[in-house]
Amino acid sequence: MRFDIITIFPGYFAPVFDYGIVRRARAAGLVEIAAHDLRGWTSDKHRIVDDRPFGGGDGMILKPEPLFAAVESLTGAKEAGELAGTRKRVVLLSPQGKVFDQRLAHELATCEQVVLVCGRYEGVDERVAEMLVTDEVSIGDYVLSGGEAAAAVVVDAVVRLIPGALGSETSAVNESFAEGLLDFPHYTRPVEFRGRRVPEVLLGGNHGEIALWRRRAALSKTRRNRPDLLERAALTDEELARLEREANSD
Ligand code: ADE
Repeated sequence: MRFDIITIFPGYFAPVFDYGIVRRARAAGLVEIAAHDLRGWTSDKHRIVDDRPFGGGDGMILKPEPLFAAVESLTGAKEAGELAGTRKRVVLLSPQGKVFDQRLAHELATCEQVVLVCGRYEGVDERVAEMLVTDEVSIGDYVLSGGEAAAAVVVDAVVRLIPGALGSETSAVNESFAEGLLDFPHYTRPVEFRGRRVPEVLLGGNHGEIALWRRRAALSKTRRNRPDLLERAALTDEELARLEREANSD
């Protein structure tokens, strides 16, 4: 698959994609990632990409013309509607978007091309969200200074789901969110560290007991840190009862 990132800071990305799994996936030819300078799609002498907001207010707004020209030249489509039924998506990163999650990461990992449009300044002309992009996506309820860091997050989360990217020794099947829960706790040596021991069950080699402990520990951790996730998780009656007991003893 390939990512095309439209940004006014193309240099931001070179070091970001040069480490770990993303670097390996690029080297193996599983993914191509290109960052494009939005100013390359301006037609005026000063290569202006922004303008003042109608209605007044602070800050500058990214103009529609360069963004529409950029997306058309990268996808061949003039508007989002032309991409229906293809494996191409155009994603605007903005704090007004729907929140990015593992489900959307899996969906994007099946695409042949994902174009990421990075917002900047006070915002982006709304016709970009209305007409040009297939998805408007936020990485969380906080405001970044621009969409670049968010684009890097999306690329990282998607690339590691491309078949072959994680290598044969690991997989994305057992990790956080795979079953709608947080991951279970992990330990390595030493067995005792600053007076705290690794849970005995993990030292014993009984795989049935270990699997049960991990499931229960994942549930407890999810209840403590992300109780909102439990509402959508598939839990047995026994697990629900256990969580209730835990909540009552807090
Ligand atoms: N741009 C600014 N804040 C953002 C956020 N939370 N997610 C995506 N893009 C953004």
